[in-house]
Amino acid sequence: MPSSSYSSWNASTLMGAIHASIAIIFVILYSVPSHVHGLDAEKVIDSPLLTEKIGTNRTIKVDINGKGEFKSVQAAIDSVPEGNSKWVIIHVRKGVYREKVHIPKNKPYIFMRGNGRGRTAIVWSQSSEDNIESATFKVEAPHFIAFGVSFKNEAPTGVAYTSQNQSVAAFVGADKVAFYHCAFYSTHNTLFDYKGRHYYDNCYIQGSIDFIFGRGRSIFHSCEIFVIDDKRVKIHGSVTGQNRESAKEKSGFVFVKGKVYGIGGVYLGRARGAYSTVVFAKTYFSMTIVPEGWTNWSYVGSTENLYLAEYKCHGPGSNATGRVHWAKQLNDEEVGPFMSIDFIDGTQWLPVWL
Ligand SMILES: *[C@@H]1O[C@H](CO)[C@@H](O)[C@H](O)[C@H]1NC(C)=O
Ligand SMILES: *[C@@H]1O[C@H](CO)[C@@H](O)[C@H](O)[C@H]1NC(C)=O
Ligand SMILES: *[C@@H]1O[C@H](CO)[C@@H](O)[C@H](O)[C@H]1NC(C)=O
Ligand SMILES: *[C@@H]1O[C@H](CO)[C@@H](O)[C@H](O)[C@H]1NC(C)=O
Repeated sequence: MPSSSYSSWNASTLMGAIHASIAIIFVILYSVPSHVHGLDAEKVIDSPLLTEKIGTNRTIKVDINGKGEFKSVQAAIDSVPEGNSKWVIIHVRKGVYREKVHIPKNKPYIFMRGNGRGRTAIVWSQSSEDNIESATFKVEAPHFIAFGVSFKNEAPTGVAYTSQNQSVAAFVGADKVAFYHCAFYSTHNTLFDYKGRHYYDNCYIQGSIDFIFGRGRSIFHSCEIFVIDDKRVKIHGSVTGQNRESAKEKSGFVFVKGKVYGIGGVYLGRARGAYSTVVFAKTYFSMTIVPEGWTNWSYVGSTENLYLAEYKCHGPGSNATGRVHWAKQLNDEEVGPFMSIDFIDGTQWLPVWL
């Protein structure tokens, strides 16, 4: 209502305005897409739904057999102009793309749509002492979404004296990044969730040692976490290595639903920063989870500010009797902030929520 029209208001226009506001509030309340609220989705978020939500008709086709505009994923990304500000779909057709792929900082709004994680794969094989260098896939631009793609680092394991070498499948170093129905394969340091707010939905993540690590602020919803054995080292590996360093830093990994299972014993996580924050909620744990649950191996410092926690997990590995004394079992109130999409401010940037 422009302020100049204030003086001309009378009772009936005021009532009209009130009714209109009530109607607007009503519409807002009832248009909240509760069916796709992401943490308890009744509707599976799939490729057509994402495509509809991002609302673009710019699609670049990548086909390894030459039936698209490009045969390489990187070539398609290179064709997106710097400073891109509208969603562009890069449709990566079925095939194994043997290349390293990098989405640079200045190319936001890319939706990489695969044909399913068993059909579209980006694969490379490299191990290095520096995590980022080895990564098969690197995203450094905000507003990136991937659907139905596998990211693999096939670097051989079991090579003597190389346990310090890491092989990252994906490096996620930007804010506002989401992966739906994707898979991440490697052994050591598979998913480098470096920084920013991220959402992983129905993803498969495989590894042995510290295989989900970094300082991201991330929700892993209904993800399947598969633990493999790494014979190079005698210690048990850890699913997570979250390294939040301070109280004011807002990073943390939250796993809701999903399952952790596999081969060999594993810790749910190990402390890497003084404020390491990881919550597993309503997750199934197989016997692959060792009774201690969490470890402070190689971490020097007090366990006082660690926030390594579980909430209503189930399955044979969820028995908390043998847990380290500094691990937490949360109650309903404590878990609240972690069980909402607001943990990553999802309603502000996830297309399914907008
Ligand atoms: C894409 O959509 C825009 C606006 O909705 C329209 O002007 C344009 O013609 C469309 N392009 C193609 C290739 O369909
Ligand atoms: C380990 O990393 C180093 C340095 O990054 C690299 O030169 C070497 O090839 C890697 N070793 C293996 C077995 O991959
Ligand atoms: C949990 O583990 C303890 C110690 O091994 C055992 O005594 C207890 O029965 C277990 N609880 C359940 C519910 O299995
Ligand atoms: C590390 O964890 C172990 C097992 O819970 C505990 O005995 C030890 O005191 C912890 N270290 C520190 C510095 O708190």
